[in-house]
Amino acid sequence: MVVLMNIRTLGAGFSEGYGVSVGAHRARPAGSYGWDAAWVPIFWLVCGAACLIGAVFSASADPPWNIIAVLYLTLLGLLFIAGGLVYLRATLRGKFEVWAETLDALGLRGDEDALDLGCGRGAVAIMLAERMPGGHVTGIDLWHSRDQSGNSIANAQANLAANGVADRVELVTGDMTALPFADASFDVVTASMAIHNIHAAGGREAALREALRVLRIGGRLVIVDISATKQYVRILGELTGESVSRVPLGWRMWWTGPWMSTALVSTTRTR
Ligand SMILES: C[S@@+](CC[C@H](N)C(=O)[O-])C[C@H]1O[C@@H](n2cnc3c(N)ncnc32)[C@H](O)[C@@H]1O
Repeated sequence: MVVLMNIRTLGAGFSEGYGVSVGAHRARPAGSYGWDAAWVPIFWLVCGAACLIGAVFSASADPPWNIIAVLYLTLLGLLFIAGGLVYLRATLRGKFEVWAETLDALGLRGDEDALDLGCGRGAVAIMLAERMPGGHVTGIDLWHSRDQSGNSIANAQANLAANGVADRVELVTGDMTALPFADASFDVVTASMAIHNIHAAGGREAALREALRVLRIGGRLVIVDISATKQYVRILGELTGESVSRVPLGWRMWWTGPWMSTALVSTTRTR
């Protein structure tokens, strides 16, 4: 509830226009969106299964192992399996639920130009297009399959078609650290679980600079990401001179557990 209220404050002060009401759209668009960094939940589930098999073998050994070792393997196995399942829920549902609430809270007019950085198979680009019937969305990506399973421009295009938004969403192959767009081209820039995939801190800073460069004055930058979000707040604050909001997003976007949680970072370009 606290998270939802904080997300709702995103819309405060923005156009009431012909905004789309909260909850007007289904959370997850039609189509197939793969798993983010699919090797992570697979690793957790395999480790969990291995620990549980080890526990069964050690309990049935003759003589049985130390009961402490059996309990330890059982608990570790259950923890790994729970972490893998929490991750799968985040990538298959939680991410979509959080973005639906976040975009609804933006109070979009419906005729904006939006850019989604690292759009992958198109989840957020499609959700933007659904909320902007008179607008235009651009998604840019390098289509790394290690970052999202089945990641390709063809699969993203198929998802656009499945949702009837292909005429309003353009997909561009390019690097978010050097955007091929003119200054002040967009009203909204989003990035979902994408900027952390740039491993060098300098590269992440370049992506944030580029995001601000292509935003129009009054345009909004909305980032949902893990790990370096406090760094994003500092850099964006230095670049804009404005306050930058950072809101933890809760269990729906835990990537195995609270040790790998997600935050919403947002700001408005005012100059
Ligand atoms: C975890 S996926 C998330 C995809 C999508 N935003 C979503 O939430 O479903 C991260 C995406 O960032 C893309 N990516 C990573 N580094 C990039 C870069 N420098 N420029 C553009 N895209 C990049 C990857 O190819 C991948 O599609």
